[in-house]
Amino acid sequence: VFPDAEWAAEIARLAAERNATILAHNYQLPEIQDIADHVGDSLALSRIAADVDAETIVFCGVHFMAETAKILSPAKTVLIPDARAGCSLADSITADELRAWRAEYPDAVVVSYVNTTAEVKALTDICCTSSNAVEVVESVDPARDVLFLPDQFLGAHVKRRTGRENLHIWAGECHVHAAINGDELTAQARSHPDAELFVHPECGCATSALYLAGEGAFPADRVHILSTGGMITEARSLRSAVGAPTKQVLVATEIGMLHQLRKAAPGIDFEAVNDRASCKYMKMITPAALLRCLVEGRDEVHVDADVAARARSSVQRMIEIGT
Ligand code: 13P
Ligand code: SF4
Repeated sequence: VFPDAEWAAEIARLAAERNATILAHNYQLPEIQDIADHVGDSLALSRIAADVDAETIVFCGVHFMAETAKILSPAKTVLIPDARAGCSLADSITADELRAWRAEYPDAVVVSYVNTTAEVKALTDICCTSSNAVEVVESVDPARDVLFLPDQFLGAHVKRRTGRENLHIWAGECHVHAAINGDELTAQARSHPDAELFVHPECGCATSALYLAGEGAFPADRVHILSTGGMITEARSLRSAVGAPTKQVLVATEIGMLHQLRKAAPGIDFEAVNDRASCKYMKMITPAALLRCLVEGRDEVHVDADVAARARSSVQRMIEIGT
């Protein structure tokens, strides 16, 4: 059955022929994750894209991620197996909308989530990912207003963690994470009282998780609000912890995440809070699309040189902050 060992061998041969490195986000299909040279979250993959020696980066993820790689490594060829792989969150703010918002707060510092277009990044002071959003906002002078965009749930998380009153939050959302709702999470948490809970901060239910913990319905020390990379680190540490072993973890994020978690901590049962939480954009990167990409050298990602030059410093600041 496709994709088989022959497919894997052909991908490896073509990648070597093109001097290409294959990067895959944690939400990619398992076959794509398994063939990639590096699998990770948005921050880790951006750092690799900035450093990698290969002439070509094949980005198995969504378009803004490949664009970020091109901004950081403009001399390299950046390919994405299907350029239609967009992101509903990145679409929730346009450059014109950001220009108008900035005009209302001319002295504010603009912090944009990496899930934005290159044009939006070009109007941004510092980008962040879910791994370092709190640290990025903490790096801003407390006296300055911050415009945080586009994700309202990540924004609410950052506001809770930093306690900053002068953080203004755009009302955007990711359709996949917004749909993992509080009722579902509450029901799952109540029926699995011994499980740990991993929640991505883009989720509509992150607030409910903390609320449950706050009212004592779920132990607060078992609620972990984490980026996808943070979930892998936490899974490894739960696995190696001494004392009572963790048997089950409920995971509130896109379901592609389960593959890396199960590999990182084989003894733990990872279950999705919502097993329909699949990102159709991430899943456009199929084994057939990756093969076509390496055979035909497309889709190539281009970012206007002037836009890239203006976006670069905000992205570079992002990769310098946080672990
Ligand atoms: P991270 O991998 O940075 O946690 O981001 C998740 C995401 O939604 C990417 O689309
Ligand atoms: Fe965008 Fe949401 Fe898909 Fe991530 S899961 S790529 S934020 S639409």
